[in-house]
Amino acid sequence: MSESGAAMPERLVDVENLTVRVSGREGMPILDSVSITVEAGKMTALVGESGAGKSMTTKAILGILDDRLFDVSGRIEVCGEDVSAMKTKQRRQYISRVAALVFQNPTRALNPTMRIGPQIAEATRFAPDGPHLSDKAAHDRAIELMKQVGIAAPEERYFAFPHQMSGGMKQRAVIAIALSLNPKVLFCDEPTSSLDVTTQALIMDLLDELRARLGLGILFITHDLVLAASRADTVQVLHSGRVVEKMPVDDLFQRAAMPYTRDLIARVPGFGGDEPRPTMIPLEVASPAHACSYVGECAFRQGICGTQVPPLAEIEPGHLARCWFPVGHPPLDQSLATAHEGASIGR
Ligand SMILES: Nc1ncnc2c1ncn2[C@@H]1O[C@H](COP(=O)(O)OP(=O)(O)OP(=O)(O)O)[C@@H](O)[C@H]1O
Ligand code: SF4
Ligand SMILES: [Mg+2]
Repeated sequence: MSESGAAMPERLVDVENLTVRVSGREGMPILDSVSITVEAGKMTALVGESGAGKSMTTKAILGILDDRLFDVSGRIEVCGEDVSAMKTKQRRQYISRVAALVFQNPTRALNPTMRIGPQIAEATRFAPDGPHLSDKAAHDRAIELMKQVGIAAPEERYFAFPHQMSGGMKQRAVIAIALSLNPKVLFCDEPTSSLDVTTQALIMDLLDELRARLGLGILFITHDLVLAASRADTVQVLHSGRVVEKMPVDDLFQRAAMPYTRDLIARVPGFGGDEPRPTMIPLEVASPAHACSYVGECAFRQGICGTQVPPLAEIEPGHLARCWFPVGHPPLDQSLATAHEGASIGR
């Protein structure tokens, strides 16, 4: 059930036209009309290079941006409730009951001076019945959570300090804390990028198991296309604060059509094909806000790319691209130019 008593929707996160600006700053927003969905039991990967706006998207959805510094607009539904319409305090309380965040660096997420078990037990105190839990009940819940995330010998590890645990074990403890309030959706911001490849795979196995067993929806942020392709159901590519491509995961390496996504793929070792690239034509861009964000580097650019933001358009069923000249597809109808600037069509 959602907060209002309605059945929990399939789309646990449903965001439309999320735009974030630094307050009082004209020009390009940090996020420009971002739309994103996460379904129950599924993983949506949000990929893009550093500075693309991946963390900003998470923070804006969770309502943890300082509203004195940023202007946020758009519709943000989490577990069936429109959180963009809520007051800050109500929103934070609601979000903490249905969603949790797992960061990149488990060492920074944990208190170094406190044993791991009590940190998890303390987190369970924020559940609706938490304040009434006896110490024994909080301890037992922490042990149960430690088992759920695959921490072996939890009764012993309960008393370990973070520095006595490996990176992977610390990230499991962070995930246990994230699960302590029974969230429906997890926001994982590069949760494995500080871990070695083997540990990374084990943590990804844990996330897979949790979404299968608990029906969790996961927004998985990464710059690692191979990891996204191997684990997610849907991939959304973010570039300069705009979603530039969205597709089922099986299409990523086979059918990516937006030149930026294709260039990202070409940089993955083993995928750099010897595809012929057109000669880049000289092009003047009057204003970045009115051009394709990739126009400066795109080998496929034409005149319109420098003057009109392409819409995010459906180029085949379930596959959207923000490009006037999607590779392997007919050019977009240019009459869509100003009418749909910055928006999505065909969703
Ligand atoms: N406090 C701030 N004031 C102004 N701009 C900011 C602020 N925080 C972030 N930004 C800008 O927002 C953009 C997106 O940042 P964000 O942290 O979301 O990137 P990211 O995709 O998560 O990158 P990374 O992979 O490095 O974590 C960047 O261009 C960044 O400079
Ligand atoms: S819209 Fe134009 S510049 Fe942008 S990616 Fe497509 S072809 Fe390249
Ligand atoms: Mg980030």
